[in-house]
Amino acid sequence: MERTLLLIKPDGVQRGLVGPIIDKIERRGLRMIGMKMMDVSTGLAETHYAIHKGKPFYDSLIDYITSAPIVAIAWQGSKAVAVVRQVLGATDPTEAQPGTVRGDYGIDIGRNLTHGSDSVKNGMAEINLWFKADELIEWKRSGEEWIFEV
Ligand code: RTP
Ligand code: MG
Repeated sequence: MERTLLLIKPDGVQRGLVGPIIDKIERRGLRMIGMKMMDVSTGLAETHYAIHKGKPFYDSLIDYITSAPIVAIAWQGSKAVAVVRQVLGATDPTEAQPGTVRGDYGIDIGRNLTHGSDSVKNGMAEINLWFKADELIEWKRSGEEWIFEV
């Protein structure tokens, strides 16, 4: 089973979209294994976005993600990484399909509401970065046999 990290960025929280964003992924069938609301320190933001250091949008990205509380959720399930990326839509909301989070709620790339891990390897690493081991819950969602064939 894959694991992936979803961040509902400060604009998602400020705009009251935490519920609708979770709803799309929960109804799709992934299992939530950790969730918390938090202020993001500059250090955590810089570690998370280290790959973008030096790019023109890096400083504004760090300002954005540290500007107000976020909600972090760890998800588990078959194909979890791709499913969350699909639900979030393209990075630039004007390129995201209607029906996706960014396609329904976003306009600017610098206010694109969410983050989703982009690979299985990064999903594992990001969950370890954002959650302590005792913040993750091992449980079985009833009815998963009606979502996953095996
Ligand atoms: P994320 O990491 O947030 O899930 O988004 P992503 O994989 O779709 O996009 P990525 O290339 O990793 O970019 C990370 C975040 O940086 C901001 N960004 N701004 N102004 C720009 O050209 C630009 N490009 C990226 C976005 O907030 C993006 O989600
Ligand atoms: Mg990314």
